[in-house]
Amino acid sequence: MAELFAGLTTSHVPAIGAAIDNGKTNEPYWQPVFKGFEFSKAWLEKLKPDVAIVVYNDHASAFSLEIIPTFAIGCAEEFPPADEGWGARPVPVVKGHPDLAWHIAQSAILDEFDMTIVNKMEVDHGLTVPLNLMCGTPKEWPFPVIPICVNVVQYPPPTGHRCYMLGQAIRRAVESFDKDLRVLVFGTGGMSHQLQGPRAGLTNQQFDYAFLDRLTQDPQALTKITPLEYLREAGSEGIELVMWLVMRGALNDKVEEIYRFHHIPVSNTALGHIILENR
Ligand code: DHB
Ligand code: FE
Repeated sequence: MAELFAGLTTSHVPAIGAAIDNGKTNEPYWQPVFKGFEFSKAWLEKLKPDVAIVVYNDHASAFSLEIIPTFAIGCAEEFPPADEGWGARPVPVVKGHPDLAWHIAQSAILDEFDMTIVNKMEVDHGLTVPLNLMCGTPKEWPFPVIPICVNVVQYPPPTGHRCYMLGQAIRRAVESFDKDLRVLVFGTGGMSHQLQGPRAGLTNQQFDYAFLDRLTQDPQALTKITPLEYLREAGSEGIELVMWLVMRGALNDKVEEIYRFHHIPVSNTALGHIILENR
C-alpha cells in the first residue's frame, strides 16, 4: 500500500526562481535564503520519495479569471512550466503520476470532495519554486509530482478547516492505493505577506512564529482562523497559508518537527519553511 510519510511547507516567492535562473543565488541578499534549505535538500535526497503531492495555487497562469476551481488535481502525464510574462522558466517539465492522481481524484470525489480534474496544465512559480528550493536545479526533477491547486487568488477562498479536511481525504486516498509508494506532501505559499495597497510589504513575524508552532503541535487551532483574520494578521496574500493546512491534514495528529526556517524579507514577504515527519 502507498504510505504518506512526511510533509513540508515552503514559500514560493517568484523572485527566488528569478535568482536561480539569473545566477544570483550567491549574492548577499539571496545567500541566507538558499542556505536555509541546505539541510532540507540533504533530508530529501536521503528519503527519496516515490511521488510528491504539491499543494499550491495557480497565479492566473493556467486558470484565468474565467474559470476558478476551488480545488483541482493534475492528472496529466506532464506539466510544462508556464510563461508568466517573460518566457517559461528554464526548469524541467514536471512529470505527473496519472495512476495515483486519478486514484486520489476518485477517492476524494467519492469521499465528497469535489475536485476539478485537470488533464492539461502549465505550472507556475507556485509549484516550480518549491521544487527548486527542495531539489536544486537538476536536469530532471527527481520524482513525479501530483499538483493540487487551491484557489487563494479570487475571493472566496476555501476555509482553512476545509483545506485541513481535504488533506485528511488525500491521506485516505493515498493509503488506499494498492502500490507500495512512499509519498511526500508539500504545502506551498505563505507566510505573512501583502503585495498590494497601502499595507504592501506587511509581514507579521509574531503571527508566523505562532503559526509554525501550532502547525506542528495544534493544527486544529489553525483551522479556526477565518479568511478575515488571515487578511488582517498575515496580509492580503497571507491566505496562501490555508494550503499548508492541506499538507498538515494529510499527516498524523502527532508529528515530529524535523526542521524549520523563517526569513524576512524575500521580495516583500516572510519566507517560511517546515519539515514534519509522521510518528
Ligand atoms: C510574490 C508572489 C507570490 O505568488 C508569492 O506567493 C509571494 C511573493 C511576489 O510577487 O513577490
Ligand atoms: Fe503566491
